Amino acid sequence: MTTAAVSDEIDLGNMAFWARPHSERLAAFAQLRKIERPVYFGEPRIPGLRSGKGFYALVRHHDVTEALRHPEIFSSEPSVSIPPPPPWAKYIFGNSMVNLDDPRHGRLRRIISRAFTPRMLNKSEQDVTANVNRIIDRAIEHGPGGDFISMVANPIAAGVICDMVGVPEEHRKLVIDRVHTWADYTGARPSFTASLRLAAKNSLGLIGLRRMVIALGKERAKEPKEDVISQLVTANIDGERLTSMELGAFFTLLVAAGINTASNGMAHGLRLLTTHPEQRELLLSDFDKHMPTAIEEIVRYVTPGMRTGRTIKVEHEVNGQVLRPGDKCVLYFMSANRDETVFTDPDVFDITRDPNPHTAFGAPGIHFCLGANLVRKEMTVAFRELFRRLPDIRAIGEGKQLRSNFENGLTELRFEF
Ligand code: HEM
Repeated sequence: MTTAAVSDEIDLGNMAFWARPHSERLAAFAQLRKIERPVYFGEPRIPGLRSGKGFYALVRHHDVTEALRHPEIFSSEPSVSIPPPPPWAKYIFGNSMVNLDDPRHGRLRRIISRAFTPRMLNKSEQDVTANVNRIIDRAIEHGPGGDFISMVANPIAAGVICDMVGVPEEHRKLVIDRVHTWADYTGARPSFTASLRLAAKNSLGLIGLRRMVIALGKERAKEPKEDVISQLVTANIDGERLTSMELGAFFTLLVAAGINTASNGMAHGLRLLTTHPEQRELLLSDFDKHMPTAIEEIVRYVTPGMRTGRTIKVEHEVNGQVLRPGDKCVLYFMSANRDETVFTDPDVFDITRDPNPHTAFGAPGIHFCLGANLVRKEMTVAFRELFRRLPDIRAIGEGKQLRSNFENGLTELRFEF
């Protein structure tokens, strides 16, 4: 198959491709994996963003993991988003660690890792358990037939970030609302004006959030508390601490990277455990034994963040294709995670799969998801409590797929119990 023929039929740069059902998108990637050289695509036109010259799609497990392993060739600068955010965004929101290479990335990661220590994770387990139970109480009050995303998954995921950062109760709705706006934005609506409106709403939302967290940072710098913001704005033993700008960028990244991904992981998880009753029975036969591998299988199978981007720094060849400095690559985790040369029966959902070298958390590499252990804990607590209190909880139907080239998301998933 030639590159051109594939591009006509399967155009990863066209939002129409991303409107197709997920099973069709996966079938297209299975075809792309058969092609030796990485295929080149044009970039989608998203209002408010500059369209670049296009990108090479890395779709095989080996190619994706090699790119992650070699940041000296595959750079995260100027941005892992393709097309990149407008230049003014950096001045307003700051530069988040995910868009930086070492040593600047390493410095931020060292400071921010303090937010993800085992002690913080244990504290978070208690908070998540309490939060999940409050959410289940409300679901029981509402009765069956509600939307799992807005009633359960989003509030759990947003609650984790808010608890972690110490966002006061009165601001939490703002965080959840901003998440919805973000999802709408990456969903790039078909109408130009609707997309522009969303872009503006999204930017304003992010500015509001950032302002809120910077104000919290200033308060905590004066009067530190037992929370993550206090740790980040006060110096560690090496005298390192986050500046206001960096704290704002960190929070924006948490909201962008840690809420919809986790929420979609839980929602798709419920859907998969409904459509695979034998896997659910196995899980419930010994929850503590099977949940660790079940989580890895859910994130492999779903791959909530379907891709990331990199820019070539030095000339490099991938399967006969020469990549030159400045060329863009999109690394498709969703495709690497179904690579038949690495996973036996990759389209089978098997909660006992082990080993499971999926790339859903961006491993292996220096940008490996900092929140991976937190989200593992979050999903474990959420499913443990949901199955304990609502043993026959199940998704109704397949849910509505979000139109996005980044998030494997659902905009709605009805559920009953
Ligand atoms: C199922 C849920 C999640 C998935 C699938 C996911 C996926 C990813 C991926 C693929 C990357 C690497 C991006 C790249 O290399 O370009 C990443 C980075 C990151 N994630 Fe997650 N994530 C999840 C949840 C979370 C949560 C809950 C948090 C925070 C509480 C979080 C915080 C971060 C941060 C801070 C980075 C940047 C790390 C760095 O640049 O060194 N993520 N995540």
